[in-house]
Amino acid sequence: MSRKLIAGNWKMNGSLAANQALLRELLAGVKAPVCQVAVCVSMPYLAQAQELLAGAAIELGAQDISAQVSGAFTGETSAAMLKEFGVRFAIVGHSERRQYHGETDAHVADKAKAALAAGITPIVCVGETLAQREAGQTEEVVKRQLAAVIHTNGHCISEIVVAYEPVWAIGTGKTASPEQAQAVHAVLRAQLVAASTLKAATTQDKRVPILYGGSMNAANAAALLSQADIDGGLIGGASLKAADFMQIIAAAQ
Ligand code: 13P
Repeated sequence: MSRKLIAGNWKMNGSLAANQALLRELLAGVKAPVCQVAVCVSMPYLAQAQELLAGAAIELGAQDISAQVSGAFTGETSAAMLKEFGVRFAIVGHSERRQYHGETDAHVADKAKAALAAGITPIVCVGETLAQREAGQTEEVVKRQLAAVIHTNGHCISEIVVAYEPVWAIGTGKTASPEQAQAVHAVLRAQLVAASTLKAATTQDKRVPILYGGSMNAANAAALLSQADIDGGLIGGASLKAADFMQIIAAAQ
């Protein structure tokens, strides 16, 4: 099996000084990681992070990407712009963007397409709210969210990363249990396998990484990451503390 991916989502946190301190600590501690490691920083800090991470084993990610190529789209950042800063990953469809910016499944799918066209790996986030979980709709919700991305991206879905982030677990300290997470990951895995079997034969053997996100921390990472279909983590709060983030990386062995 391929290496796990541990990605930090810094969200709207950081400053030039804080980023420098955090990245220097990570660079000192993450020299030859057993897994793939990335940090997804705010747009204004891409240049700073690119410079500090040059030649390092930590890759750079953005937290969003425009579905458009260029033009009159105030406030947006295109895939080509991100490429100029060495961006390797772009988070798309994070629940905070779905919730606060009205991003629909179709829009998220278009963003994934724009990323793929530029050679950036989209980290496609899916996940149910607490109300949806309690109503027994978890499977239906995450499958619908992923289906839109599969529909729009065809055989290219073998190049994406998926992140299962139950909305009720994000920033709440309430982590999905390893069994709860694994159950949803298995559903997503089956959906991805079915889709790739229907598309090009070349994609059949490639396993799309499915990350877990939602209050993952140094204490619970190992149990989550040991599940059969959990291929890594997308970490918010705990990625802002070098020691915690490095413990999670160590747990991904
Ligand atoms: P927390 O790890 O802070 O719960 O955030 C998870 C997340 O939203 C990562 O994208």
